[in-house]
Amino acid sequence: MIFIYLACFLLLFYYLLTKNYGYWKSKNVPFEKPVFIFGSFYKIVTKQQHLFYRIREIYDNFKTPYCGIYIFNRPHLVVRDPQLIKKVLVKDFDKFVNHQIASNEKADALTYHGLFASRDQEWKNLRTKLSPVFTSGKMKLMLPLIQECASDLAACVEKHSGDKIEIRDVMKKYAVDIISSCAFGINAYCLKNEKSEILEVATKLGDFKSLIRNFVVFSYFFAPKLVDIFRLSLLDKGASSYLIDVFNNTLKERKKRGILRNDLIDLLNNLKQNESFNENYKFDDLKMAAQAIQFFTAGNETTSLTLAFALYELSLNKDVQDRLRQEVRETFDKHGSFTYEAIQEMTYLDMVLNEALRKYPLTIFLDRGCEGTYNFEDTGLTIDKNVSVLIPVVGLHYDPEYYPDPEKFDPERFSPENKNNILPYTYLPFGDGPRSCIGQRFALLVSKLALVYCLKDFAFDVSETTKVPLELDNGIPFIMNKGNLHLNVTRL
Ligand code: HEM
Repeated sequence: MIFIYLACFLLLFYYLLTKNYGYWKSKNVPFEKPVFIFGSFYKIVTKQQHLFYRIREIYDNFKTPYCGIYIFNRPHLVVRDPQLIKKVLVKDFDKFVNHQIASNEKADALTYHGLFASRDQEWKNLRTKLSPVFTSGKMKLMLPLIQECASDLAACVEKHSGDKIEIRDVMKKYAVDIISSCAFGINAYCLKNEKSEILEVATKLGDFKSLIRNFVVFSYFFAPKLVDIFRLSLLDKGASSYLIDVFNNTLKERKKRGILRNDLIDLLNNLKQNESFNENYKFDDLKMAAQAIQFFTAGNETTSLTLAFALYELSLNKDVQDRLRQEVRETFDKHGSFTYEAIQEMTYLDMVLNEALRKYPLTIFLDRGCEGTYNFEDTGLTIDKNVSVLIPVVGLHYDPEYYPDPEKFDPERFSPENKNNILPYTYLPFGDGPRSCIGQRFALLVSKLALVYCLKDFAFDVSETTKVPLELDNGIPFIMNKGNLHLNVTRL
């Protein structure tokens, strides 16, 4: 008898895991044959392949405007055609408002209330409230705080002059110093001190390596039901409560002493104070702290890795590095310091950073959930509610049709003359449309200041231990190389 029960159970299990596997065939959509249980992500789960290469492979294998894949047992539509991408991200945004990340208030209230995971009307209210925080006027006011950290960065690089430097580590300290200063109102001094509590917190929040963290992150992005079943928290509880305490203490201190610093924490606090003027959305203490923590998590690894990879490429392409240094020095001589206007004037700096973000888009793909049955008009394709749409950013950024010789680091692609030839919706390091990265302006300013402070007086070279080409760490769901990233530094 027990065998009959067992057989029924296994059959039911098999049915549940495979019942969706006919979805794309029934829709007449070209699709990748799923591997049992894992769908298209078998090599990702078993760490045989990095997500970066998996998404590129899927993109390259299909030459059609879209194709179907399964992630575990859920159907996802990979949209390859820029015109269709525009529909999803911009034209028909109201049908694709939400990211597909799990959101469970009881399991992780901070992630739930953060902008990235918030949904529908709640997201709209929050985004409307937060957008004024990132205008260029506000960035200008924050510049002195960023300059202070960039100057610490140059001092830290100086200490390693004549030696090699672990560039990812240094840039992580820089990013943590900046976000701690701007979003939490504290001087973390990670670049100055060997040991820093907040750096440990950042490391905990950015830990994707351990098996458990890997499982949690995967569940949040690809198997949200597991988040509900096991009440999984995306944020490390200890680390997030440390940050909440820091945030609340800063707020108290500012109220008591009447301090105004024009940073993100002041701007968030203003939004709360002006609450009575906007009754759409109650911006309480928890929601305010959730945004600060979101800025901390969304801004750290993205900014620091972009910078590390930019300097790695500049070390391999010395002509580009020299030309950029020349622009940096000329601009410095003209303005006497790196003012907001000086930074905006540097065209080649912008080109170099754009190219670094093309080759290393930290977010390998964008995702949107379909809010109802949706018809891609001319194509004849209709997808159903809750089917996820993936935009394969790395596939587009490495498509030779859009970026000839895509492995080459070539800032000329983004020169004022060539920039206009880039096909819209093929360059998406910050996403696009109403749900694009809210911190883009801040990230670009912070990154540009880091590069100019580093390059003005120092030369960067690959060292004998730098792996060329980079070998990606298959256990990490964004672009991160295995082991260290050492560069030699010389004072000029
Ligand atoms: C080089 C650095 C960065 C990169 C490459 C980056 C990239 C991205 C991308 C691709 C998205 C998703 C966009 C979409 O789905 O269309 C995103 C969303 C977001 N980013 Fe960034 N980001 C960076 C830095 C930052 C910083 C510094 C902050 C905060 C200060 C930030 C805050 C956010 C938030 C809150 C969202 C969610 C927006 C929403 O759902 O409305 N990011 N980012």
